[in-house]
This record gives sequence, C-alpha cells and structure tokens, in this order.
Amino acid sequence: MTINVAILGCSGRMGRNLIQAASEHEYITLVGGSVRASSSFVNFDLGELAGIGALGKKTSTQLNDLLVADVFIDFTSIESTLENVKWCQQHKKAIVIGTTGFSAKQVQVIEQAGKTIPIVLAPNTSVGVNLLFKLVEITAKAIGDYTDIEIFEAHHRFKKDAPSGTAMKIGQVIADTLGRNLEKCAVYGREGLSDERKNDTIGFATIRAGDIVGEHTVFFADLGERLEITHKASSRMTFALGAMRAVTWLASANAGYYTMQDVLGLTD
Ligand SMILES: NC(=O)c1ccc[n+]([C@@H]2O[C@H](COP(=O)([O-])OP(=O)(O)OC[C@H]3O[C@@H](n4cnc5c(N)ncnc54)[C@H](OP(=O)(O)O)[C@@H]3O)[C@@H](O)[C@H]2O)c1
Repeated sequence: MTINVAILGCSGRMGRNLIQAASEHEYITLVGGSVRASSSFVNFDLGELAGIGALGKKTSTQLNDLLVADVFIDFTSIESTLENVKWCQQHKKAIVIGTTGFSAKQVQVIEQAGKTIPIVLAPNTSVGVNLLFKLVEITAKAIGDYTDIEIFEAHHRFKKDAPSGTAMKIGQVIADTLGRNLEKCAVYGREGLSDERKNDTIGFATIRAGDIVGEHTVFFADLGERLEITHKASSRMTFALGAMRAVTWLASANAGYYTMQDVLGLTD
C-alpha cells in the first residue's frame, strides 16, 4: 500500500515537521507541498525546507499541481484551509485538517464538506492529547458535577488563537458530558474582585511564552483533593506523527466528517 500525500503550507513550523514525518513513513509517498505565491520558498526542495536533505520534490503555488495526491494535509490558517477544503471537494480529495481557531459556523462548513469527501478535523493530532480527551470525559462523568473544573494551557509566543483549539475541545468534551452549554458556562481569565466561583462554570487560563510547544492541564478540584490531568508536547513531531496516523486511516475511509477519536478508535 502507498498513499500519495501533499502538504499544504509546507514551509510553516508544522509543515516542515510534516515533510519529515511523511517522507520517513513506510506507507506514504510525499508527492509535493504548497506555499503562497509570495513565499520566498517557491520552487524549493521539500527536503531542504525540512532540513533533512534534498527529496527531489519541489514546492508549488498551485493546488492543481498536486492532483496526483490522494490525501492532503493542511496546517495553514483559517481562511486558507476553508479555500483548500472547497478545492478538495471540487477534486474529490481527502483532507486532514490540523489548522485551529475555526468558529462554530466554519466547523459546520467543514462538516458539510464531509458529506462528499473524507475529512479529519483535528485541532490536536497528538495521540496523547486525544487520550486525554477520553480520560477527561471519564473523569467528568464520575466527579464533574461537584468539582471545580479549570483548563490551563500554555503555548509559544507565536500562537495566534487563544484559548487553544485543544483547550476549547477539552471544554466542549466536559460540557457535553455534563449537559452544559459551553458558551454560557465558560469563564475566560479572571481579574479584580468577583463573587465566589460558580460550581457549574468551566474556567480557562492561557499563557503565551517563548517556545513552549503545547501544554494542557485539566483540574477537577474539590475541597481536600484535586485531580490534574496533564499533557505536555515536547516536539512538534508528535503532531506530525499523529497526522500521519490520520492520513493512513483516512485513505481507506468513505466520505465523512471525522475526528482523531475516530482515527484512534476511541469513539463509543
Ligand atoms: N492540529 C495540531 O495538532 C496542531 C499542532 C500545531 C499547530 N496547529 C495549527 O496549525 C496551524 C499552523 O501552525 P504553524 O505553527 O505551523 O503555523 P505557521 O508556522 O505560521 O505555518 C502556517 C503555514 O501556512 C501558510 N499559510 C497561511 N495562510 C496561508 C494562505 N492564506 N495561503 C497559503 N498559505 C498560507 C503559511 O505560509 P507563509 O509562511 O507564507 O505565511 C505557513 O507556511 C495553526 O492553526 C496552528 O494552531 C495544529
């Protein structure tokens, strides 16, 4: 089995890790990658871009140059990903989306596209984080109703969206498990005097600093004890390897809208 894969936004921080992970994968053939027309990496060797030596495949500015790919991987930006999804629909291509920060409406657009092509939308492709989602669900079911739930996340100084897509997803998993409406019960940051913490809220705290790859901790705190579930990513390669798992799974999937929970067999 070999799966032809193209990486969109391949000159980005994740793009370069994805090039390495794809080029080293047993069942994946990296056929190309895209950059913006204004990029200084137009017509650049993908391997040189990733710092792993020439691979003999150059960057393109047109998705039409990448039609030989079966599955596309997109870690770019919201606007760019939405355009790329449209293109994949037109050309009946599967796509793994790692881009974060979509609004509920934009997620609906992607979900809709899943009616005609196979799509994995994964705000976090790390296997550990996806297990954390499951652990959080189990914990919320057991003690979520009477503990204070707070979600802390830390990322590098360049990250644009906050709280992270992963933190929002953790909040959503907890809200769904406890039958709460996240839009109503989320509290983003605290400052100054306030009333006592309301039990049915879900708090979010964010820091942005240096080169932190990504850390998430969920607190379930009662009087006298607290449970903390933590995940720490130490290299972007973990996200790239998770994306490869999504690619190999999606390559044989029917049209549909999927998550990493589906990829990892963690759905009930
Ligand atoms: N799912 C996960 O596990 C995971 C993990 C890490 C990051 N992410 C997310 O992945 C996305 C990318 O992260 P990153 O750290 O790799 O960011 P980055 O270094 O800024 O890379 C983004 C890449 O996308 C390209 N791009 C952006 N807008 C574009 C457009 N309109 N047209 C064409 N190319 C465009 C950029 O090109 P230029 O350089 O020319 O602007 C760049 O190559 C973010 O949303 C981030 O939150 C997800």
